[in-house]
Amino acid sequence: MQNTEPQDTVLVFDTTLRDGEQSPGATLDVHEKLEIARQLSRLGVDICEAGFPVASTGDFEAVRLIATEVGPLTEGRQTGQPMVVAGLARANRKDIDRAFEAIREAPRHRIHTFLATSDIHLEHKLKMDREQCIQKVVEAVSYARNLCDDVEFSPEDAGRSDPEFLTMVLSEAIKAGATTLNIPDTVGYTTPGEFGQLIGYLIEHTPGSDQVVWSVHCHNDLGLATANALTGITAGARQAEVTVNGIGERAGNTSLEELVMAIHTRPQLFNLATNVDTTQITRTSRMVSAYTGLVVQPNKAIVGANAFAHAAGIHQDGMLKSNLTYEIMRPETVGLSSSKLVLGKHSGRHAFRVRLHEMGYDDLNDDEINLAFERFKSWADKKKVVADADIEAIIADEIYQPPETWHLNHIHVSCGDHTMPTASVSLTGPDDQVYKDAALGYGPVDALYQAINRIVQVPNTLSEFSINAITEGMDSVGEVTIRIQPHDNDSLQAINPPTGQALIRTFSGRGAFPDIIVASARAYVNALNRMLASREGKTRRSTGQSSADAGHRSLTPDG
Ligand code: KIV
Ligand code: ZN
Repeated sequence: MQNTEPQDTVLVFDTTLRDGEQSPGATLDVHEKLEIARQLSRLGVDICEAGFPVASTGDFEAVRLIATEVGPLTEGRQTGQPMVVAGLARANRKDIDRAFEAIREAPRHRIHTFLATSDIHLEHKLKMDREQCIQKVVEAVSYARNLCDDVEFSPEDAGRSDPEFLTMVLSEAIKAGATTLNIPDTVGYTTPGEFGQLIGYLIEHTPGSDQVVWSVHCHNDLGLATANALTGITAGARQAEVTVNGIGERAGNTSLEELVMAIHTRPQLFNLATNVDTTQITRTSRMVSAYTGLVVQPNKAIVGANAFAHAAGIHQDGMLKSNLTYEIMRPETVGLSSSKLVLGKHSGRHAFRVRLHEMGYDDLNDDEINLAFERFKSWADKKKVVADADIEAIIADEIYQPPETWHLNHIHVSCGDHTMPTASVSLTGPDDQVYKDAALGYGPVDALYQAINRIVQVPNTLSEFSINAITEGMDSVGEVTIRIQPHDNDSLQAINPPTGQALIRTFSGRGAFPDIIVASARAYVNALNRMLASREGKTRRSTGQSSADAGHRSLTPDG
């Protein structure tokens, strides 16, 4: 019998901060990573892969901070044991040393090392034969095991590797001291039946397989990542590697919320449990989406805006008679509210606080609550009802923000079918001076962004722009998400672990406001601030640090 710690529990290994951050454009700063790690701890994940320390100084520092600050048992975590903090390393001493250095302060820490085993990767990428591969795995795992008691090994591209060769590699990894063996379908090539069979085969045929925890790591290129992970678990794996909202390299990874809720909703089928507090799922999803700028599609299972919406008449009729008719899980189970408290312009600070508490926002400080309350009041003046989705957008827009180098004061835009769109803006700069400028554009948003560019002067390309309505109805708040890419060399800062290639950094920004042009301006200033903060190594909005470089103004400050 393999070691499954405990037998009926599937360990949740979250890699949002590592594989998830490899999603194009999902750049996170240290502060954002720390906040997400804290939330993952509250959510109850067992292992948090905090990053790839050798990739850059920023990655190293983020993993080290997570290990020291979130590694010990954190407030709100209910599992009784601190979260394990893991660092990724390729199969070489330099990577492993760097990973260990970053994670060592966490009371529970893990080195995760990997080497490709498929013939395609061995021949074209690593230029080594199978024997050399086994030798390198043994060296890396035993070196890591000398530093740390908890060592995970992954044969990259296992989904396309020869299963028999895999058993040889994996049994050597066990002998060298690996405690977890993770089987990645790196390119999302396998189908559920095949992947389940592979896991069953490896568990049965790898000598020493009962001494380790078996793990699955599936990518979503064919939309099968969750299904594959579930068949892997059914075949005996007791750890699943997942990301919040399923973000990750290319089409992403198995989504945490889908895997956890499948196990939770079908206890008779799986006869398994996780340590996840499912009521924290919605909040975690929102936070990750706000920080990464990766918008969750409306029909996304569990966390999409429509996941619990019943539109068809027959469905609504059935739901009114009994929610069992069309609902396989209660919205409250994933942290969506069932509150009947309706907030509007007559609601006071106390009611707002109570609502925040009901929604799980217990860790906001007084300043943050006041900031959010001010925004709530201004929205309540414009809309009849401020829904939970609006409150979540307020929190995302006011609290989950990068340090503010530039502050948006006012905008004025004029446009129409017979005029040139014109925008004027007022921003407060890092030196606390107010700057104003104006510009023409192809459309109102272009005019606005040109005017902001004239002041901030950081050349960049707008690579994505999207608008969503947060709630239904004409008075809905618009949420704008954008992505920008800086033109200068500072954009090349990190390397992508599996390929070793430099990543072009993309910075996202999000803004929510009843007026979509204002939301667009907020999103742009937010993205610029995130880019500037990353360049200047700033970590916190509340520190009030000012930029060292104030020499890029286009206008004289007018105070
Ligand atoms: O997909 C993959 O193979 C990985 C490994 C580094 C585990 O992410
Ligand atoms: Zn991966």
